[in-house]
Amino acid sequence: MTLIPIIIDTDPGIDDALALVYALNAARLEVVGVTTVHGNVGIERTTRNALGLLEFARPGARVPVARGAAQPLLGAAESDAGFVHGIEGLGNTPVFTPRTAPHALPAWQFICERVAERPGEITLCAIGPLTNLAHALAHSPAVARQVAGVVIMGGALRVPGNITPHAEYNLWADPAAAAAVLAAPWPITLVGLDVTTQVICPPEYFRHIAEAAPRVGGFVAQLAEFYIDFYRRHAGLSGCQLHDPSALIALTHPALFTAESLPVAVNTHGERRGRIFQSAPQEAAGQGTKAQPDGSITVLTDVDADLVKEVFMLTLSAADQGRRGN
Ligand code: BDR
Ligand code: CA
Repeated sequence: MTLIPIIIDTDPGIDDALALVYALNAARLEVVGVTTVHGNVGIERTTRNALGLLEFARPGARVPVARGAAQPLLGAAESDAGFVHGIEGLGNTPVFTPRTAPHALPAWQFICERVAERPGEITLCAIGPLTNLAHALAHSPAVARQVAGVVIMGGALRVPGNITPHAEYNLWADPAAAAAVLAAPWPITLVGLDVTTQVICPPEYFRHIAEAAPRVGGFVAQLAEFYIDFYRRHAGLSGCQLHDPSALIALTHPALFTAESLPVAVNTHGERRGRIFQSAPQEAAGQGTKAQPDGSITVLTDVDADLVKEVFMLTLSAADQGRRGN
């Protein structure tokens, strides 16, 4: 099987942690590195969480973690999603004390160097605010031609937002970065709330994973407990939405998703800040951003949620055996 080499840009974050565990155990993925970004919690915590998660979920694997941006391109980080993900970012699980240190390079440079070493091979999987990707583009525009693709968990096209009535969190958290990233000439797949809100996992789902893989799956179930509680209290749901893992599964199992090729832009200011919209490129220019001239953004608009959940469960259920799921 040909592996898909990826760099995961992330702000762990409970669903980021679930996505990392999935990626480390997915037979089709080679995790070349992890880069961290401000977001669900501050950069110190997202970096510590990423290091700790990798040591825990794949002891001895030595996947490098490069620390990224502490704040968005413009202004200071505004949100603290502690009420969603816990003050430390990983719910009620014990705080990690990583033994390893972050990579010497900052995230943007790590991304540019690794991608340049393997032109046309590496896919960037961005599951947090897009600040690091925007810095990479600004420092080295060539990166856009050297990646295999960019998969982004972000946006809400035909459904409401989750941080405001209009916007999805990752694009809202750094809209200037989102505009730069969406406008760059690299092949983007946007995995937004249109699909991720359909993938809802109840408590018993995580109990099965914990039974199958008591060490890693048990930890995952403990993480999910906090997240499920948030969804119960704030959305009246009896399960949590699998946002970030769905983006990774869109890469490993694209046939489970409906894709549309659309010109997409993002509002950078005002009430609709962070909202994506379908627009002709010339119309988009007036909104403070621009869409790709060839309309080549792939937007995932529907999903077979049951099969996505099955893939995730099968993969995580094998996590304790050192076996790699499908
Ligand atoms: C996104 O926002 C964050 O809270 C999650 O980790 C996910 O990346 C969902 O809108
Ligand atoms: Ca995230």
